[in-house]
Amino acid sequence: MSGTPHVHADEVPEGEAVALEVDGHSVVLCRVEGEICALSAICTHEDRSLAGGEVEDGVVTCPWHGARFDVRTGRVLALPALRPLETFPVRVDAEGWVHVNVP
Ligand code: FES
Repeated sequence: MSGTPHVHADEVPEGEAVALEVDGHSVVLCRVEGEICALSAICTHEDRSLAGGEVEDGVVTCPWHGARFDVRTGRVLALPALRPLETFPVRVDAEGWVHVNVP
């Protein structure tokens, strides 16, 4: 687990994917039922960013062409994407800082 906190949990709203860079990787953070999940920010359809994508009921929607992914598993739920998103472990420390482990 990376020792460097990347963002505070308060900066991850309900309903929207928040983008950040972790060790050179583009990641989005999504909130689902209070839990914060981290996924690759690069949509597997046309390699565009999921930043700002809508998050609802544990599903993130790509803002470009509407592919949908399970926030917890990265599984594809709607075309046009065919391949899942990579997911990364997240830890929120006692002070609310979010640590993302990108291998
Ligand atoms: S780039 Fe995400 S659906 Fe096309």
